[in-house]
Amino acid sequence: MEPVRPVPPPRRPDPPRAESTKAAVELASLLRDAGYESPRIQQRLATGDELLARSPELPSYLRRLGDGDELAVLLRLFLLGVPVERARLELLVPERLRQRLAGAELLVDDAGLVHGTARLVPHDDLLIASDPAGAAEGHADHVAGVHRPSVALAHLTVRGEEERALDLCAGNGIQAILLAAHASHVVATDVNTRALAYATFNAALNDVANVEVRAGSFFEPVEGERFDLVVANPPYVVSPESAYLFRDSGLRGDAVSELVVRGTPALLAPGAFASVLIAWALDPDDPAARPRQWLEGSGCDAFLLHTSTDDPLETATVWNRDLLDRPDAYSGALDRWLAYYHELGIEQLGYACLVLRKRNDSRDSSAAGWMEALQLPRAALRPAGRHVRRLFETHDRLDELDSDAALLGRRLRVVDDAVVSQDTRFSGGRWQSEQLTLRLEHGLPFSAELDPSTARLVRELDGSRTLAEALATAVGGDAAGEGLGLARRMLEVGFLELD
Ligand SMILES: C[S@@+](CC[C@H](N)C(=O)[O-])C[C@H]1O[C@@H](n2cnc3c(N)ncnc32)[C@H](O)[C@@H]1O
Repeated sequence: MEPVRPVPPPRRPDPPRAESTKAAVELASLLRDAGYESPRIQQRLATGDELLARSPELPSYLRRLGDGDELAVLLRLFLLGVPVERARLELLVPERLRQRLAGAELLVDDAGLVHGTARLVPHDDLLIASDPAGAAEGHADHVAGVHRPSVALAHLTVRGEEERALDLCAGNGIQAILLAAHASHVVATDVNTRALAYATFNAALNDVANVEVRAGSFFEPVEGERFDLVVANPPYVVSPESAYLFRDSGLRGDAVSELVVRGTPALLAPGAFASVLIAWALDPDDPAARPRQWLEGSGCDAFLLHTSTDDPLETATVWNRDLLDRPDAYSGALDRWLAYYHELGIEQLGYACLVLRKRNDSRDSSAAGWMEALQLPRAALRPAGRHVRRLFETHDRLDELDSDAALLGRRLRVVDDAVVSQDTRFSGGRWQSEQLTLRLEHGLPFSAELDPSTARLVRELDGSRTLAEALATAVGGDAAGEGLGLARRMLEVGFLELD
């Protein structure tokens, strides 16, 4: 009989450890050789491009997978969290790989049944270990895998060539490992030493040697230091619980986001960026009020990249999904969370990535920073660091142009990533041209419907003429004011750039 949910080992295992970086790298390479890579796994399990398997899907996955080949055995152990018989493991998994798995303490034998001690999930070219699926309950220090917010943060990080980078609240180390590709030295901090053990193992597994892990709460391990780039995915959920370190800060309301936002600027070198995931009690009349207030006097400029606004029930539902297969516990959690939001007077919760840039002139207290809020489209995020950097640069240049007249005198051009497409529909016996859409092929997934005059304006803005000239041709004198506002908006979100 196949299990209906993951089967953790009888005793909670310690995190895996690398015998040496060489051994860990060989392990990753043997796993890849066995097909333990995203496309092959997606094909075997017939999943979409996410491998966020949940226990309700397990029975179906197990039947699809079978247990007759090496990849099926590895996926059972390290993705789905179900044990296999030792004899089957020995028959199907080559000895060299078994040795490397055992050396990393990734296998534990329970009377002839072998369990994987960790979950291993490929992310692009990386392989990331975390605590096994279904093993969280009762363990506050459970180390979660890479989830959607982790990927969003990675996409919204402004990457350059940095000397020193910081991953605050590092968890399994995914952000630190990504930073290590372009920073000379990365510090990864977490209050959870179990998480840091995973981060250390994951660095070795991915052949990364420039990550230093430090234990401690929030800014404590890096007090007085400066970084050229900071990323933080803190336990930002506004939650009444203290069940899991990765989700619940134990601080009231949105205090954890406030703490991280207020504390980050002091760590930034002049010109340095930070990307921080936050949640806050959102006032519908002024959605960005609280983050703006937290940034006062920070010496930073910032974009609040607003990803979503949820009502209390949506938030409670999303963050208690691990209870979905236990309806009583799930229902109880929803009641507790809703009562908490009611008590705090929270009607809506905002979620965003706040991107900060330390001003070069931040010692000058008269040089107040600015904050702009941008609502991101619901469309799936993709790597957008360069786009985010461009948002800051455009803002700087618009600040330098201190009047509409100055902007009208500048040449603007549509960015290379912009595409205009048109729908045509067969209707009334003939093909009719319908909506024109402007969208970006890379970076933040903005798109906009174009009316005919804006479409003409976009076509005119090829860098060969000033904005005033393009407006005169495309929209005519009467609508020039409106066209100027539109062009400014298209510049601000990155459809256009200043030549
Ligand atoms: C949402 S996880 C982020 C993991 C990873 N950085 C990512 O992007 O997927 C939040 C992390 O914050 C850590 N954490 C919780 N409280 C903390 C504290 N007081 N100081 C530092 N880290 C903390 C948790 O242990 C957990 O690893």
